[in-house]
Amino acid sequence: MSKVKIGVLGARRGSEMIKYCKIADNAQIVAICDKSPEVLDSHKEKEEDLDIAFYDNFEAFIEHDMDAVVLANYANQHVPFAIKCLNKGLHVFSEVLPCQTMKEAVELVEAVEKTGKIYAYGENYCYMPATYEMKKLYQEGMIGEFEYGECEYIHNCEPLWAKITYGEEDHWRNRMYSTFYCTHSLGPIIHMTKLRPVSVIGFEGTKNERNLRTGAKGGQFGIEMVTLENGGIIKSVHGGLYKNSTWYCAYGSKGCMESAREIAGDGDVCKIYLNADEVSGQYGKKRLENYCPTHGHEEKLEGFGHGGSDFYSMYNFVEKIKGNPDADTIDVYEALDMFLPGLFAYRSILDKNAPKEIPDLRNREEREKWRNDTACTDPGAAGDMLLPCSSLGDPQIDRSIYERMEKLWRESKSKK
Ligand SMILES: NC(=O)c1ccc[n+]([C@@H]2O[C@H](COP(=O)([O-])OP(=O)(O)OC[C@H]3O[C@@H](n4cnc5c(N)ncnc54)[C@H](O)[C@@H]3O)[C@@H](O)[C@H]2O)c1
Repeated sequence: MSKVKIGVLGARRGSEMIKYCKIADNAQIVAICDKSPEVLDSHKEKEEDLDIAFYDNFEAFIEHDMDAVVLANYANQHVPFAIKCLNKGLHVFSEVLPCQTMKEAVELVEAVEKTGKIYAYGENYCYMPATYEMKKLYQEGMIGEFEYGECEYIHNCEPLWAKITYGEEDHWRNRMYSTFYCTHSLGPIIHMTKLRPVSVIGFEGTKNERNLRTGAKGGQFGIEMVTLENGGIIKSVHGGLYKNSTWYCAYGSKGCMESAREIAGDGDVCKIYLNADEVSGQYGKKRLENYCPTHGHEEKLEGFGHGGSDFYSMYNFVEKIKGNPDADTIDVYEALDMFLPGLFAYRSILDKNAPKEIPDLRNREEREKWRNDTACTDPGAAGDMLLPCSSLGDPQIDRSIYERMEKLWRESKSKK
């Protein structure tokens, strides 16, 4: 098979996938779609030497001759576009998050099953050097059976907020609830263990002053306490605590491992610490080491974000399309195993932290219960099941906050 022909919808974050196609041996970028004229124009300029078609609307874009589409549009609008692409015979790479309601989750699973096309969830944090090594070691049995893990994706986006919300009051980042953006933290542990989450208790950071001054209506940060099918437990925390941290650790029946702490300044997601016995209960012979793992293609990683993981998530997607049996992608069921803990954690938060069962949509009968469930914080999708953006309700935020954000965004553009 010659190079896989890729189209990208949403060319802000989508720039990273466009970059992949420009250096890849297995893929080429053939079409870019963004409704924002300035985003489209910036790519017309950057990619002027390439044979790329530019579209400002999805309906024309999807008619282009291509094999696969990258969905890097709004985080809460992936499913309607994914379903249209799958039905058109196109493979789909979806940015985070996979869906925003249970209704969408059922529809997405059924569209993937019906069409037989490849759906790959772009949870790039699974492909960082440390998290990918943790997966490899876990699958080799290095730490035994998973018992407990912690994962953190702390990103204080306040300095970026104007640039990433443009002063739009209803931008998805302003309306997302505290546990929505959960797969950067939970994803790597799910991908590592391949264990299904069965129940969750959610918690919300409600000291929201810093969020409110940017215009964000949800809780400051979210926590999921997740129980897995083998009884193992994960603590996942993510959101806008003041200083950033991306960190993962896992304890098993004969050892533990973790990525370096960002604050230690010692390689963070590129370094792993391992402490494991050969046999559980025999404490003499152990492997105790720390190192910076490599996974091949290092010569191509320069300039790729998130510890080079942005390269690997696309590489594996394209290899999967090409039929490479070693391609490691995240399918639709695993994507939901990463996301549904966050969706149900919010229901737990709204129900005084009561535990919630996490459905398994692999099971066809379970789908019936959720087929019409549109509960979410997006008025465009929720219908009469609209949820408040935080457990404290929807805060009233003065228009001047959004006007200030828009002004800061425009100023930042004119400085370039
Ligand atoms: N994996 C990561 O590390 C990572 C990092 C940043 C963003 N993201 C994800 O990438 C996606 C995009 O985020 P973003 O930061 O680029 O900001 P964004 O969501 O504000 O930008 C989305 C872009 O898509 C375009 N768009 C939206 N709907 C469209 C439509 N119907 N037709 C044409 N164009 C449309 C918009 O004009 C905009 O340029 C989100 O899903 C986000 O979660 C992932």
